[in-house]
Amino acid sequence: MGHDKLRKFAENETFACLLQPDASKVLDKTGDPSEGLKLHEHPIKGHWNEMMFHNDQPIVLELGCGKGEYTIDLSRRVPERNYIGVDIKGARLWRGAKTATEEGIGNVAFLRTRIEFIEAFFGPGEVSEIWLTFSDPQLKSENSRLTSPLFLGRYRKFLRPGGIIHLKTDSRFLHEYSKAVALENGLTILAATTDLYGSKGVFPPATVATLGHVRGGTAGKAGGGVRGADVERGEYSLGTVRGKYSLGAELFEVQTFYERMFLSQGYKITYLAFTIDHDGPYKHPETFDSDYWRSIEGPRRFVHSPASSQR
Ligand SMILES: C[S@@+](CC[C@H](N)C(=O)[O-])C[C@H]1O[C@@H](n2cnc3c(N)ncnc32)[C@H](O)[C@@H]1O
Repeated sequence: MGHDKLRKFAENETFACLLQPDASKVLDKTGDPSEGLKLHEHPIKGHWNEMMFHNDQPIVLELGCGKGEYTIDLSRRVPERNYIGVDIKGARLWRGAKTATEEGIGNVAFLRTRIEFIEAFFGPGEVSEIWLTFSDPQLKSENSRLTSPLFLGRYRKFLRPGGIIHLKTDSRFLHEYSKAVALENGLTILAATTDLYGSKGVFPPATVATLGHVRGGTAGKAGGGVRGADVERGEYSLGTVRGKYSLGAELFEVQTFYERMFLSQGYKITYLAFTIDHDGPYKHPETFDSDYWRSIEGPRRFVHSPASSQR
């Protein structure tokens, strides 16, 4: 391991805002592995506000936060909410935790864990919203996709009723897949666009039409679909925060590291917001044409070294 990484890992130990539990303490290795993951509950589960933030504000997660720029930026803008960035890479989390510590930002924390273990850390109703920002589309492995039925089942265990999942991605494959999962399962789609910045000024209304080709017959049957009233308001609030708060501002003004990188290469940024309206089980989207959407994913250039790139 390089000297720089060792230095960051050592400094990570000193950050009060960074929780990095030993994976062996979270994963219960007893029992039959074919029965899925068995996890030990972490002591902070259900107690983030009491143990970390010392307030009772709504909690927002960013899963796969990388260096945590988005989490940090949101926490600076919206002090009346608590933000937690989650990632498995300690050297990346170091950047966010260092900034939060140096600036003394009290409403931000970071958690180093695999997202697969996330339910070990949050109790029922503890989280108000989840941001998935430029997640790996996992073209070949559905169960590794962060919007798959498997992951929605995990989120549902701690997302409060009506809590929102936001997905911002350059991957049309992941956007269409996630929309199809939401529709297949009758979940309410609050907003969707396949070109966030191209639709600035007209979004959300113009984007409602883009849902047509994936709706299929299942959305109506399941009682979900698009909530027109929510998406047609010019500047709209998703109503999850106390006080005045416009989602429009964070959507367009706060950009992640990968977002800036892909925008500079001319890729369109997509956005989807939906709620998990019922306890599942969540179904695989039968109507999603994965071969087609996979075939149109273009190549990406990464400014990271290959060793640090996830995609
Ligand atoms: C493509 S990067 C995006 C980083 C950041 N959200 C951004 O937009 O700049 C994906 C991040 O997700 C993290 N990640 C991917 N799969 C993960 C998993 N299963 N558990 C925890 N972190 C994961 C990677 O370490 C990486 O930092």
